[in-house]
Amino acid sequence: MCGIVAYIGKKNCKKILINGLKRLEYRGYDSAGISFLNNSSGACRMKVVKEAGKIKELEEELKNIKADGHCGIGHTRWATHGEPTRINAHPHSDCTGNISVVHNGIIENFQEIKKELKRKGHKFVSQTDTEVLPHLLEEYNSGDLLVAMQKLVKKIKGSGAIVAISSENSNEIIGARLASPLIVGVSKNGNFLASDMPAVLEHTRNFIIINDYETVRLKKNSVEIYDKEGKLVERESFKVNWSISNAEKSGYPDFMLKEIFEQPRGVKETMRGRLANGNLNFDEINLSKEQIKNLDKIQIIACGTSYHAALAGKQLIEKWAKIPVEVDYGSEYRYRDPIVEDNCLFIAITQSGETIDTLSAIRESRNKGAKVVAITNIVGSTVARESDSVIYTHAGPEIGVCATKTFTAQIIVMYLMALYFAKIRAIIGQDFYEKVIEELEFIPNKIQDILNRAEQIKEIANQTYKFRCFLFLGRIYGLPMALEGALKLKEISYIHAEGYPAGEMKHGPIALTDKKTVVVGIMPEGEVYEKLLSNIQEVKARKATIFSIVTKGDNKIGQYVHYYFEIPKTMEEISGILSIIPLQLYSYYIAKNLNRDVDQPRNLAKSVTVE
Ligand code: AGP
Ligand code: GLU
Repeated sequence: MCGIVAYIGKKNCKKILINGLKRLEYRGYDSAGISFLNNSSGACRMKVVKEAGKIKELEEELKNIKADGHCGIGHTRWATHGEPTRINAHPHSDCTGNISVVHNGIIENFQEIKKELKRKGHKFVSQTDTEVLPHLLEEYNSGDLLVAMQKLVKKIKGSGAIVAISSENSNEIIGARLASPLIVGVSKNGNFLASDMPAVLEHTRNFIIINDYETVRLKKNSVEIYDKEGKLVERESFKVNWSISNAEKSGYPDFMLKEIFEQPRGVKETMRGRLANGNLNFDEINLSKEQIKNLDKIQIIACGTSYHAALAGKQLIEKWAKIPVEVDYGSEYRYRDPIVEDNCLFIAITQSGETIDTLSAIRESRNKGAKVVAITNIVGSTVARESDSVIYTHAGPEIGVCATKTFTAQIIVMYLMALYFAKIRAIIGQDFYEKVIEELEFIPNKIQDILNRAEQIKEIANQTYKFRCFLFLGRIYGLPMALEGALKLKEISYIHAEGYPAGEMKHGPIALTDKKTVVVGIMPEGEVYEKLLSNIQEVKARKATIFSIVTKGDNKIGQYVHYYFEIPKTMEEISGILSIIPLQLYSYYIAKNLNRDVDQPRNLAKSVTVE
């Protein structure tokens, strides 16, 4: 999910590719590589150079390599399949070494394609999903790589931007887009393909967008774009006047806002392949049906935002799959001499896969015989390596210190897992199973609907940012979101905020409420709505300012509260994933009003590797 850059033109491509990759560094990556066509001694030869780790290492390696090519492709990898090693880094090659491919995204059906290709005698060297692509091109190629690419696009399922070159034709670069960004940069010195504008902004400001399922043939003086049916399409280039830093954030002022807006995609990518054709596939858990049926308990360990995802998971696993779940902080669990029972599944949730508290808890429990399933966003992270099995969230790299899109990706994994366990244990019927799946499939669009109305939240933040005490109240499915909403606000605005079970207010915190307090009530329609309405009135009577998150069509809330925001209707059990979106936006806009650095809040680090 990281970055692609490709160049064909008058200039030597080596420097252009390396600089382009450096410009994409902000997207996060774990390895990088380039391949280019050298024209030495009349013959055109493919040269592939790749390294794990930093781009500087790749650059070092390239210093001693002669490169006179004018056509090449480059890649920064954010591993989704296979650890971030040199072998798994892109570009990948076919059996002959003539074709070289870079790819961003995920190929869902790579296992079956790989089997098919192996039967035909193709040899694979990496663990990536990507490696099937050069071999497929080799199979399909009968002289025109573009035609081969068009066949390939029909064969594969998933997301991706794909770029390929062949030593049989050094005058062209072929690209394809399947739901991952790919743009063409046009200049008089040659043409570019890239996942994002900053990669080539120093060479051109003229761009053409490639749409899903389109393929492109890039030559030094021409760009041909073909639609899904293989028909040539006319498309004009457009000019941007963005600066590089502006472009890195795709025009958003900060990474945090960009990442909030990337959530429909992060959720969709995380469901991709696991939820298809009305069915749920979770083989990665690596537990037999018998083992799942025999589970007596689940222990979840996490910290910070991931801990809130764990709380949301507990509620649904207990409700749907009827397995008792205990949730603990990594930092607590490891020091309390925990009991590891038989038939207890241990789940660790960590965005970074490096949080030392979570890691130590995993080590402690594995020493005592537990089997650990990790849920993480980083392939090859320490937690991924030290667990018995891994479920990856596919939110893409998160640059802002504040977790947003990785949280909703974790939440969706928890929902899917709860449903999967419930189905295998035969606690829920087919109708309910199908209903939940249908609802889950709508979630990305419903998140988008909320994001489209971000201005409403901004307005509420503009009215309330001067308050110095915030209470976030929720019950049941709203409670983990109240806790997360308060954490977001604390982290980036430095305002004191508490997340609290609404019913607990009367046992103490209500003493805090006065006219200087804002109470945020998470109250979508459902079982506890009326109770929340009463709790809200209790604080309103103490002069607090009230902001409620409600379900669309709630026509009585207006008379009780100062501000409200409507989220789309969904099943009550999964409403949390929608409630959190306006709360992320709310914290963001409050922090911006206070001129805070939302991407790098004071005293915080993206992954906490100290105790
Ligand atoms: C989230 O916004 C925070 N930066 C923090 O609470 C974070 O969730 C926590 O440190 C856990 O990180 P992890 O998911 O990478 O383990
Ligand atoms: N799925 C591919 C891999 O793991 C591509 C990842 C990326 O987009 O960087 O190699």
